Amino acid sequence: MRLLVTWVVPLLPLLLLLSRQGAACRTSECCFQDPPYPDADSGSASGPRNLSCYRIPSAGYECSWQYEGPTAGVSHFLRCCLSSGRCCYFAAGSATRLRFSDQARVPVLCTVTLWVESRARNQTEKSANVTLQLYDSVRYEPPLGDIKVSKSAGQLRLEWETPDKQLRAEVHFRRRTHGSPWKLGDCGPQDGDTESCLCPLEMNVAQEFQLRRRYRENQGSLWSKWSSPVCVPPENPPPPQVRFLVEQLGRDGRRRLTLKEPPTQLELPEGCRGPASGMEVTYRVRLHMLSCPCKAKATRTVHLGKTLNLSGSAYNVTVISWNRFGPGPNQTWHIPADTHTGTISAHCILRLPSSSNSPASASVAGTTGTHHHVQLIFVF
Ligand SMILES: *[C@@H]1O[C@H](CO)[C@@H](O)[C@H](O)[C@H]1NC(C)=O
Ligand SMILES: *[C@@H]1O[C@H](CO)[C@@H](O)[C@H](O)[C@H]1NC(C)=O
Ligand SMILES: *[C@@H]1O[C@H](CO)[C@@H](O)[C@H](O)[C@H]1NC(C)=O
Ligand SMILES: *[C@@H]1O[C@H](CO)[C@@H](O)[C@H](O)[C@H]1NC(C)=O
Ligand SMILES: *[C@@H]1O[C@H](CO)[C@@H](O)[C@H](O)[C@H]1NC(C)=O
Ligand SMILES: *[C@@H]1O[C@H](CO)[C@@H](O)[C@H](O)[C@H]1NC(C)=O
Repeated sequence: MRLLVTWVVPLLPLLLLLSRQGAACRTSECCFQDPPYPDADSGSASGPRNLSCYRIPSAGYECSWQYEGPTAGVSHFLRCCLSSGRCCYFAAGSATRLRFSDQARVPVLCTVTLWVESRARNQTEKSANVTLQLYDSVRYEPPLGDIKVSKSAGQLRLEWETPDKQLRAEVHFRRRTHGSPWKLGDCGPQDGDTESCLCPLEMNVAQEFQLRRRYRENQGSLWSKWSSPVCVPPENPPPPQVRFLVEQLGRDGRRRLTLKEPPTQLELPEGCRGPASGMEVTYRVRLHMLSCPCKAKATRTVHLGKTLNLSGSAYNVTVISWNRFGPGPNQTWHIPADTHTGTISAHCILRLPSSSNSPASASVAGTTGTHHHVQLIFVF
């Protein structure tokens, strides 16, 4: 009895210290203890998979995986074993991605084995093992933020800022049109603060582009995810099917002109169907009063649904398509003079609603894919 007491009493502070150290696993560090559940693998097909671990320059280390099982009540644990046989774990909660720094007690210059264990309803499911040296498994990010699009010598030029500390990349693009599979292309090696890519333009179809990047000086480097879509309208947007309805000249010397534009069927690739995708084609209507010697100088955008009045004089009406690169093809219609009342005005001022001193031309903006009727009534 006395012997036991003399042995246990001096050991107590040490035991307490050990248990306190155990409880003190910090969430930012890999915890060198047994995970808080029994070791077992139920081996379900819906377990975690496609584990990938890598270094993101300027953002530390990351592991990501997929989990297709029910998400309710699931907890993921990222396990890591060193070559010495010591093992630790990170508790990721319900997230399927975990970031850690080089201070997380995971040796990044040595080979480690990682896998994911997903705990749900007292069952554990394990992913396949991944064995790698983390520091060399560089994964760059795709172009982040704004990707500028311009036309350059019959080709399309995409340009973006190089993500922080991610120089010496190689870049791929992929592109698709409505109903066709992706086609892969190479943008070549990159250097400097901005990166760019020359891609093919298409005359008659809308295209969706995505970009990905990889550090090109390292065998172990991984491709980034694909960037968000860049949507490029066709070089020649389809001409609008505009119909004009010109009414007879009224007693007040005005006639009503109704312009109907059925929605243009531009077939869009899957990633470009949302609003403000960059695919927008607008149409501007320019009016030219033929008896008027003054040339139309400025254009003015009129909201849909506003009305304008037309005199009995002859006009040419031009509908011009605009996309993100500027004006595209146009079509001109001739509206002959209506001399029924003989009151053809000689004034050269076009009156637009909400303005009494407008230039002698008007424009109407519309967008593809929307149903609308444009009603114009011009007065001179
Ligand atoms: C995930 O893994 C499965 C096989 O386990 C594979 O078929 C699939 O392509 C992978 N997905 C990704 C996005 O890597
Ligand atoms: C999980 O297992 C423990 C012990 O084996 C048991 O007490 C508990 O009720 C189980 N929980 C569920 C949700 O099955
Ligand atoms: C994964 O690695 C751990 C630690 O090295 C090992 O105990 C386990 O058996 C491995 N699992 C598979 C499926 O290879
Ligand atoms: C219409 O297109 C032709 C050639 O495509 C161009 O020369 C003309 O300036 C355009 N007209 C307008 C009003 O933009
Ligand atoms: C008016 O339009 C007609 C038919 O589109 C065209 O032949 C004519 O040259 C145009 N006139 C002017 C002055 O633009
Ligand atoms: C066009 O004519 C109608 C009457 O027909 C009038 O009510 C309207 O104010 C006119 N619009 C403009 C812009 O002058």
